[in-house]
Amino acid sequence: MMEITLNINEREYTVQIIETETLLDVLREKLGLTGTKRGCEVGECGACTVIMDGKAVNSCLILAAQAAGSRIRTVEGMTRNGQLHPLQLSFLKHDAVHCGFCTPGMLMSAESLLEHNPHPNAEEIKTALAGNLCRCTGYKQIIEAVEDAVKK
Ligand code: FES
Ligand code: FES
Repeated sequence: MMEITLNINEREYTVQIIETETLLDVLREKLGLTGTKRGCEVGECGACTVIMDGKAVNSCLILAAQAAGSRIRTVEGMTRNGQLHPLQLSFLKHDAVHCGFCTPGMLMSAESLLEHNPHPNAEEIKTALAGNLCRCTGYKQIIEAVEDAVKK
């Protein structure tokens, strides 16, 4: 066991971990931040995407110990003063949330994209979301939702 401090959504958490635990394990099982989803656990589905030091990453591929000292953002950190983020509102408006399992990861990838490229075109949006799989929507509504959020 070891003790680490994680900065998640601007809040510090000190937590005891086993050296082999992933950031995904710690977020969900130790900190109760279950917005980040556990899908494939091998870096294929993107359900576990979080933003680490400004970059979208698969939290299932990162050891929690590696994340100590980094700034982590999860879907729980998207709301501000109880208000949904414009991307979240746009996903709702465009019916881009069906079962919702992919949604937190999609939102994290989209937010990371917009932070680096505030005016992406459709191809750039598709590329940014290429690592996020959705079994429900066919992706069209998700792309449209991000495009619409870009216009705001
Ligand atoms: Fe991490 Fe699928 S659970 S990429
Ligand atoms: Fe169900 Fe995307 S909405 S997996």
